[in-house]
Amino acid sequence: MNKTIIITGGAGFIGSHVVRLFVKKYPHYTIVNLDALTYAGNLENLKDIENSPNYIFEKANIVDAAAVQTLFEKYQPDGVIHLAAESHVDRSITSPLDFVYTNVIGTVNLLNAAKDLWAPRPSEGAWRGRFHHVSTDEVYGALGETGFFTEETKYDPHSPYSASKASSDHFVAAYADTYGLPVVITNCSNNYGPNHFPEKLIPLMIHNIINNKPLPVYGDGKYTRDWLYVIDHARAIDLVFHEGVTGGKYNVGGFNEWKNIDLVNLLCRQMDEKLRRPEGTSAQLITFVKDRPGHDLRYAIDATRISKELGWSPSVTFEEGLSKTIDWYLENKEWLAHVTSGDYQQYYQQQYEKK
Ligand code: NAD
Ligand code: DAU
Repeated sequence: MNKTIIITGGAGFIGSHVVRLFVKKYPHYTIVNLDALTYAGNLENLKDIENSPNYIFEKANIVDAAAVQTLFEKYQPDGVIHLAAESHVDRSITSPLDFVYTNVIGTVNLLNAAKDLWAPRPSEGAWRGRFHHVSTDEVYGALGETGFFTEETKYDPHSPYSASKASSDHFVAAYADTYGLPVVITNCSNNYGPNHFPEKLIPLMIHNIINNKPLPVYGDGKYTRDWLYVIDHARAIDLVFHEGVTGGKYNVGGFNEWKNIDLVNLLCRQMDEKLRRPEGTSAQLITFVKDRPGHDLRYAIDATRISKELGWSPSVTFEEGLSKTIDWYLENKEWLAHVTSGDYQQYYQQQYEKK
């Protein structure tokens, strides 16, 4: 069946992998990538598919309600996959309002546009459309040494980022309960892979190892995250968008917990090997630094529901995924240099203005 799908945040890390998957797997769909191209959005992430006949890019800010309404009227989407967000916890600690604008108000603007477009007309009985909200495990707060987040775990966000994402999840659920909007929500653990902006742990460490810079490990390094290869997250989104129960909520994670310090040491070993440096060279760059305020001790996702109901499971092991990720960064040093130089964004925006 032909469909038009708006994917928000498609120029970002996860969004670009979702856009690529959909553009390639569903040639009969029209994929509209709606992205404001903030510092984190980068059209270079989609160079390989930018000329595909079923792909359209629209530069727009989801905080601008009128712009969002106009695009919904223009494209009449059958579905929305919403990934646009301010996504970095450290930035949320210094600029919390940016997170309220994009993650909360931006999400409500999209919900309003979807509601206006999909609400049953007098001649129809049912809602059209599907609004897939892409969220995070951080809404559940922090775990102690044991246990997992399930879909029933109570929300307990600690950072301005996770509070804004929790708020957006509540709005999505409220639009389903109050108006009947057909929604699904996925809450995923930490992603890693190609095109990850080098402010987050794994790409930052890769960038700093390549450039012989210190590797800043927060606090004692014992904080634990559950890592998932980004393409496996994109596969999960595809499954839930198409087959998830309307109104359903699905946790996504790799059952793959790592203490930060162990992960950084693994990265150092793999990088030494790939860069043909003597073993132990990169690890000498590890520097323990002041902790992140309100740092969540441990995240771990119970992904039983998506696995049992929809047959999803991760396709790569962590070692394989990490090795592929490092290879990508080593082969794309120009990308890394551009995104860290600050002029990259401007360059692509100028290219875009010319079109
Ligand atoms: P990212 O920061 O790499 O990309 C965000 C994208 O959204 C960028 O392309 C940016 O230009 C765009 N954007 C930001 N503000 C916008 C606005 N106001 N209007 C339009 N576009 C805007 O983020 P990511 O890591 O790819 O995360 C994508 C989504 O997945 C987010 O909703 C995030 O909360 C969620 N998530 C991320 C992870 C992770 O590990 N990165 C894990 C679970 C869930
Ligand atoms: O759990 C899902 C979340 O994962 C997503 O919702 C967020 O968008 C994403 O950014 C990520 O949040 P984290 O805060 O877990 O990711 P980050 O890469 O910033 O940090 C991972 C861990 O590494 C965390 O314990 C903090 C630590 N850290 C991070 C950086 C950037 C360091 O020790 N040093 C660093 O320099």
